[in-house]
Amino acid sequence: MDIIRVEGGHRLSGGVRVSGAKNSALKLMAATLLAPGRTTLENVPNISDVHVMGKVLKRMGATIEVVDEHRLAIDTSAVDSWEAPYELVAKMRASTAVMGPLLGRFGRAKIAMPGGCNLGARKIDMHILGLEALGVKFDTDHGYIHADASEGLTGTTVTLEFASVGATENLIMAAVRAKGTTVIDNAAREPEIVDLACMLNEMGAKIVGAGSPVVQIEGVEELHPVTHRVIGDRIEAGTFIVAGALMAEDGDIEVTGFNAAHLGMVIKKFELMGVQIDRIEGGVRVHRADVLQPVDIQTLPFPGFPTDMQAQAMVLSALADGSSVITENIFENRFMFASELVRMGASIRIESHHAIIHGVQGLSGAQVVSPDLRGGAALVVAGLIADGYTEVSAIHHIDRGYEHFVEKLVSLGAHVARVNVPDPSDD
Ligand code: UD1
Repeated sequence: MDIIRVEGGHRLSGGVRVSGAKNSALKLMAATLLAPGRTTLENVPNISDVHVMGKVLKRMGATIEVVDEHRLAIDTSAVDSWEAPYELVAKMRASTAVMGPLLGRFGRAKIAMPGGCNLGARKIDMHILGLEALGVKFDTDHGYIHADASEGLTGTTVTLEFASVGATENLIMAAVRAKGTTVIDNAAREPEIVDLACMLNEMGAKIVGAGSPVVQIEGVEELHPVTHRVIGDRIEAGTFIVAGALMAEDGDIEVTGFNAAHLGMVIKKFELMGVQIDRIEGGVRVHRADVLQPVDIQTLPFPGFPTDMQAQAMVLSALADGSSVITENIFENRFMFASELVRMGASIRIESHHAIIHGVQGLSGAQVVSPDLRGGAALVVAGLIADGYTEVSAIHHIDRGYEHFVEKLVSLGAHVARVNVPDPSDD
């Protein structure tokens, strides 16, 4: 099995360019279902989640040409199946993003029920309630959701109980082909939703208000293929900012390829901790001269502090001069990472959805297990400052969302390697 081995204590310097946003690319790939013909996506990250979404589309009859490492040409003209099968949905919950576009174009979809994941139950009830309001009829059997809109979709007002990213996206992708106007009230405002609406509008959709809590979609008769560039990954950028904040003392690193405005709350909180983050062309310069200060953070939908940066922020607060509180409001089970960080010497107490972190002087390298995508990346970053060696296993989680993570860290001066070791569970 592959692990990532980190030798701590090496200063970082230089620059790193982040890849395209995972959470944008996956939805844009799903959205190509709405426009028969060849859509080209640029700045697509070469990560395993993108490969899974490619498989989902191919199973339906789409063809995907890998033009180069970061450019995919997807042709959905010949799609003749409307099913996202269990083995792919179980690998990646975001496969459910095909439901909206399938309903928009074909009026039907058969999607494996996603079930739980290691971030908790992660229901899709809001997707279903919203689509029902547009006229979709749902049925479930044998672990599958059957969605039928053969009588057409009709625009209406949908008020989301919570600003769910996935529900907002599925509703937008169905509503672009509905009769009349759909209004999504309490819509999620994440930059990836704006990117999706931009591409759909380039395809001929009529969406206004994406990025605000009220999105209005006027249905159109057809959408046409386009060429679209995926936005930079703000979470990958935030992960490198944490690495720089830990290891660029008396120097700096530059993180580019993303829009710093997409990380507003993260930058604000890290600045309060004593990290200096200067805006530069296409990104930021990160530097820290002073001791890290404790901070209180609560995760919230955009423009609040992203849950996907919670673990990385915990690494910083674990080394702060005082006590911090991090409150997780989005996912019910996102503190598994904390117990791994405790194995590295951090002092963290979990009380319900709060983590109380007492800063320590240093971390010590240990063998740890990646609990999920962001937690895994945060453990690698923690290893950069830890004394001795840190070995992170279950790194398939990291591969889901970080392209060339090891190589990028090495280019900044980190001593990190991907190593194949015998699986200890094999006799
Ligand atoms: C997306 C992102 C994920 C990010 C999250 C929140 C992708 C592929 N993933 O996930 O990285 O952490 O947004 O920013 O884009 N919920 C329900 N019912 C629903 C829908 C959601 O109860 O119908 C709950 C979820 O269980 C969760 C919360 O709402 O507790 C937020 O979920 P949501 O915003 O939908 O996140 P995802 O789209 O799954």
